[in-house]
Amino acid sequence: MNTFSLDDNYTIDIQGDLALETKEMNVFYGSKQATFNANLKFPKHKITALIGASGSGKSTFLRSLNRLNDDIANVTGEIEYQGVDINGKNVNVYEVRHNIGMVFQHPNPFAKSIYENIAFALRQNGITDNLDARVEESLRDAALWDEVKDKLKESALSLSGGQQQRLCIARAIAVKPDILLMDEPTSALDPISSRKIENTMQKLKEKYMIIIVTHNMQQAARSSDFTAFFHLGHVIEYNKTTKLFTNPKMPATEAYISGHFG
Ligand SMILES: Nc1ncnc2c1ncn2[C@@H]1O[C@H](COP(=O)(O)OP(=O)(O)O)[C@@H](O)[C@H]1O
Ligand SMILES: [Mg+2]
Repeated sequence: MNTFSLDDNYTIDIQGDLALETKEMNVFYGSKQATFNANLKFPKHKITALIGASGSGKSTFLRSLNRLNDDIANVTGEIEYQGVDINGKNVNVYEVRHNIGMVFQHPNPFAKSIYENIAFALRQNGITDNLDARVEESLRDAALWDEVKDKLKESALSLSGGQQQRLCIARAIAVKPDILLMDEPTSALDPISSRKIENTMQKLKEKYMIIIVTHNMQQAARSSDFTAFFHLGHVIEYNKTTKLFTNPKMPATEAYISGHFG
């Protein structure tokens, strides 16, 4: 396999505080290495898109950030969050997941009422006060409140796919994380629902740092501030989204964004 000279292609001049940083992160499934030496800096209040062909390691990278790969992979290197290496041994994984929430590709609401989907998540995280207000606030932030405020007792499964995904976003932000990870959150949705989620993300970044994996180039270009291009498990280019899409430095990036492979 090719080796990549990484440093030349990490051209971002990051201003301001970082929400998260990975240092020499490697992920192994048994003897198979899926992510190589990922050094990425994620600034606060920004959206970073992870793009690249299927199997390039985007989900592996993302899931490792909140320790979802603990049981299935070996993750080496550091994940620095608030001055702590959260990839370390003595870290409280539940606390990590409280601070770093995840939204998955397929909406996965609980088979409970709309209200309970959020209230249950809050109680599970030890939050039992002001539930009504917290439920409303998170539904408003996820741009779902107006559509569900009169039917909070109805089953979450009665909602459309796009509404279910916004409910999952509401559930993730109800516990007030710092960071929101989204793994192809709109790939199972129609274009209108997808745009609603993109619009929601622009509001959410006032409060959270967001990392989104997407196969949709227009979505990455429209909605992210920074983009990391994954290729065969390597982050081979990382830049401001406008620069990466208009002036990619690496031939593989150019080929991918212009649709020549992937
Ligand atoms: N649970 C797993 N066990 C073994 N290999 C895996 C597992 N999940 C992913 N992989 C492998 O790791 C590589 C990266 O996969 P993934 O992170 O899912 O890529 P992407 O999200 O970019 O499509 C692929 O070769 C994939 O087959
Ligand atoms: Mg994936």
